[in-house]
Amino acid sequence: MLKKISVVALMTAAICSCGSKDQPKTANHKKTDSAKSKDVHTLSNADSVQMQHVNLNIKVDMEQKQISGLATWTIDNTMKVKVLKMDTYDLTIDSVHVDDKPVSFSLDARIQFLGSALRIPIAANSREVKVWYKTGKDARALQWLDPQQTLDKKSPFLYTQSESIYARSWIPCADGPGIRFSYDARVTVPKGLMALMSAENPQERNDSGVYHFKMPTPIPAYLMALAVGDIAFKSIDDRTGVYAEKGMIDKVYYEFQNIGSMVNNAEQLYGPYRWGRYDVLVLPPGFPIGGMENPRLTFCTPTVIAGDRSLVSLIAHELAHSWSGNLVTNATWNDFWLNEGFTDYFERRIMEQMMGKTYSDMLWELGYQDMVTNVKELGVTSKDTWLKLDLEGRDPDDGLTDIPYEKGSHFLKLLEESVGREKFDRFLVKYFDSHAFKTITTEAFLNYLDTTLIKDDSGLRKSLNISAWVYGAGIPVNCPRADSVRFTKVDAERDKFLNDVDPAKLATLDWSTQEWLQFLRKMPPALSALQMKNLDEAFQFSKSTNSEIADLWYIMAVRASYTTAYKAMDAFLSSVGRRKFLEPLYKEMMKTKGGEEMAKGYYNKYRGNYHPLAQESLDRIVLKK
Ligand code: BES
Ligand code: ZN
Repeated sequence: MLKKISVVALMTAAICSCGSKDQPKTANHKKTDSAKSKDVHTLSNADSVQMQHVNLNIKVDMEQKQISGLATWTIDNTMKVKVLKMDTYDLTIDSVHVDDKPVSFSLDARIQFLGSALRIPIAANSREVKVWYKTGKDARALQWLDPQQTLDKKSPFLYTQSESIYARSWIPCADGPGIRFSYDARVTVPKGLMALMSAENPQERNDSGVYHFKMPTPIPAYLMALAVGDIAFKSIDDRTGVYAEKGMIDKVYYEFQNIGSMVNNAEQLYGPYRWGRYDVLVLPPGFPIGGMENPRLTFCTPTVIAGDRSLVSLIAHELAHSWSGNLVTNATWNDFWLNEGFTDYFERRIMEQMMGKTYSDMLWELGYQDMVTNVKELGVTSKDTWLKLDLEGRDPDDGLTDIPYEKGSHFLKLLEESVGREKFDRFLVKYFDSHAFKTITTEAFLNYLDTTLIKDDSGLRKSLNISAWVYGAGIPVNCPRADSVRFTKVDAERDKFLNDVDPAKLATLDWSTQEWLQFLRKMPPALSALQMKNLDEAFQFSKSTNSEIADLWYIMAVRASYTTAYKAMDAFLSSVGRRKFLEPLYKEMMKTKGGEEMAKGYYNKYRGNYHPLAQESLDRIVLKK
């Protein structure tokens, strides 16, 4: 049941969501509201000492694969504590100064996932803490690429992935989504390479290899980002542009030509874009995720460059985070749906505005299917299918399922359909405005929803049944579902094929990627080798350069032992590092004895090409670690 809590308690929770050791540790079902909003994934004490700003002066050594340098924190010891605690993960701390005097610090033993608390003695009036440090071999945020792992094959490349709690593996910091700070940075890289951050960025390389960055708006640590490589820039309009390796920049420019208009569309929906520029950096293929909403500079996988702009909803998603996530931020990783559910909803509204309702209905339906599949995998009664998660003692990555995304966005769709679009949009504009640059817990959001949108409409309150969504398992009975007219047509064509109509005779002209996905997804579990061959001859799936279609096709090929696709699959597995593609594909191989050997063969060859985070999850699947 949803408990009403006082506004004061909610505000405190929203502001100070980082850990306090005074919080009672009760059994889960008995958790108090303040315990519900405690961030269990930071070892810092930024609720007692404000960590307001960091100045980084770091050097990136591409040969040693190490970042080293100085982080200077501006602090305000509001609670007059004696020790400042920061998050670190596999960092070597060389020395620490407080207000320019050396102090003796200590580093706790490493706790699984969380890393080691760095303890620094401070005084009530201490203002500046300097930490000289180096990153370690286990830095979970960093992927160092050798030249041959890049497209241009000439220069090494480095990028970070800080969400959810990996910033601490390259910066000593207070690493919780509820803790915000501003930053500036001086970054030295090998001459000839360019450095970019989630900040004001250069558009050209310079000769010195020294770059300066500024992010004056406070952001949480998970939005700290850095990329270094032989990177080129191309402007789209006066506030948007693209970065990529030189060999790819023209393709990227074509694919993302519409992002200027995307930003305008997003603004029309939910108010001003408040971050200045919006640029996109396309990374080499090993990037473990699809996209990351680093402020001012979305990081994105090259697997969305399909050549026909058919996968740009991913950019709509990352852009939407400039409101849901970066502007109004989930207080803890247990509230992750507030970031991702809102963003999925917003993404689909942008796509509807740009591509029409029949298009966004397809996105909704594919998302619905993902949710159904995921609920089955997790178990219909699993608490991991609640919107409010409980990740205490676990890696926050465990919460990275389709639930926060799809159950979250469908909950918002239900709100929209229940109160009407106009009223719901007004509510969202106000929500973003009144919570801008703040943190929010699930409980604070529900309170806001109740007092501003539902108010005295008890019929509405009852029909929404919010507790079934937020504190209940599975898919609630009132879950809305888009009616996709385009998919109805696709389903009819698939039926024809399954009734032995020659696939070349199917009405597939003008199908989008989403229609092809629907066509393939709903095929019976294993097709015969002949059916696979017929499909392949008609549609050339084994030669597809569309990563979404190719990945699904390889999964079907493994299921049907359709070896013709294996050569292309080998090339895909050797370079693509996106977990969303790799995990289901390796999982499918692991289902049979012969497949298991195949999976191990590929994984032995290509593990080194994957990001540390992808290695971690694939180790569990393939090596059963
Ligand atoms: N913020 C996420 C990525 C993320 C979440 C990284 C949690 C690490 C921990 C990003 O916005 C995202 O959701 N990316 C999706 C793409 C999107 C279109 C659903 C992805 O990478 O697949
Ligand atoms: Zn997202």
